[in-house]
Amino acid sequence: MNRGSQGTRVGWVIVLALIATAGLVLAQGAEEGAPAYREKIMTVNGASMGAINDVLKFKLPGGTEHIVAHAETIQRESRLIAGAFQTEVMTEESRALPTIWQQWDQFVGAAENLGQASAKLAEVAKGGDQAAIMAEVKVVGQACSNCHNTFRKPNE
Ligand code: HEC
Repeated sequence: MNRGSQGTRVGWVIVLALIATAGLVLAQGAEEGAPAYREKIMTVNGASMGAINDVLKFKLPGGTEHIVAHAETIQRESRLIAGAFQTEVMTEESRALPTIWQQWDQFVGAAENLGQASAKLAEVAKGGDQAAIMAEVKVVGQACSNCHNTFRKPNE
C-alpha cells in the first residue's frame, strides 16, 4: 500500500468520527430542548382555549370569526403533538408521564382526537349557532382532559 491511500484512509476515519460526534450532539440537543418545546405547544393550546372562552363569556366583537381562528390554531398544533413528544425525556418540572411512550399509539390517537374535535368546532363556529358552538367547545375541552388524565401528572 502506498502512502497516498493510507492518508486517504486516515482522512475517512476522521470524517466518520466527525459524523458520529455530530449525531451525538443532535441527539443531546433534542433531549435538552424537547420539554420546553412541547410546553410551548401546550401553552398555545391553553391560550387558544382561554381565548375561545373569553369570546363566548364576554360576547366579544369578532365573535365567531375569532372562534374559528382559535379552533384552527388548536387543530394545527394538534398535528405537532406527536412530533413534539417523540423524544422520550422527563424532567423535574415536566408533567409528562412515562405512559406517553409506553402507550404511544394511544397518545397519538388522543392528539388526533383533538384534531378532529377542533376541526369540527371550526366548522360549527362558521355557522354561528351559539348553543352548537358551546357544545363543540365542550367536546374540544374533553379531548384535552382525556389526554391529560392518562398522560399528564395531576397537579400537586
Ligand atoms: C395527546 C395528549 C394531549 C392533548 C390532546 C392535550 N394535551 Fe396538554 N399536555 C399534555 C401533556 C403530556 C402535558 C405535560 C407536558 C410536560 O409537562 O412536559 C400537557 C401540558 C399542558 C399544559 C401545561 C403547559 C405548561 O405550562 O407546563 C397546558 C396549559 C395544556 N396542556 C393545555 C392543553 C389544552 C388546552 C389542550 C386542548 C386544546 C391540550 N392541552 C391537549 C398532553 C396533551
